[in-house]
Amino acid sequence: MKSIALYSIKGGVGKTAAAVNLSYLTSLSAPPCLICDLDPQGASSYYFRITASKKYDSDKFLKGSKKIYSNIKATDFENLDLLPSDFSYRNLDIELSEEKKPQKKLKKNLESLSDDYSHVFFDCRPISHSSPKASFQPPTSFWFQ
Ligand SMILES: Nc1ncnc2c1ncn2[C@@H]1O[C@H](COP(=O)(O)OP(=O)(O)OP(=O)(O)O)[C@@H](O)[C@H]1O
Ligand SMILES: [Mg+2]
Repeated sequence: MKSIALYSIKGGVGKTAAAVNLSYLTSLSAPPCLICDLDPQGASSYYFRITASKKYDSDKFLKGSKKIYSNIKATDFENLDLLPSDFSYRNLDIELSEEKKPQKKLKKNLESLSDDYSHVFFDCRPISHSSPKASFQPPTSFWFQ
């Protein structure tokens, strides 16, 4: 499984547009694909007209595999699924940075997705300077094999 994160310290530079289009195009040539909407604004979820269930939140994302699996939704496009975001994701980078080994935790939470997806795309929020240890910051970013 290849994991590709679209991130930038700037807002409005096309992260979501790139994540949505790249995930769709990849789902045609190298199916199946997943797009994880990690921005509490939920723009990529909106693109696909998908909302998270009321019970889904950042805690579930941090709990990992099963909780993530049960909240993945099919898009209107064959071979492209989406993990929607929730407003509680606004604190996700801080919550992750409080973990002992955030990158390891994230990798563990997501590794079982490799059984089902060839590529996973992460549509990230603009990266915050207020959480320098956050896992979403390069170079401790989303590169899982
Ligand atoms: N390649 C492009 N050419 C022209 N307009 C684009 C392109 N990519 C994105 N846009 C437009 O730029 C605006 C911002 O795009 P987008 O929402 O993808 O940015 P973002 O980086 O995800 O923003 P945010 O930081 O708020 O999440 C949108 O109106 C989008 O339609
Ligand atoms: Mg965006």
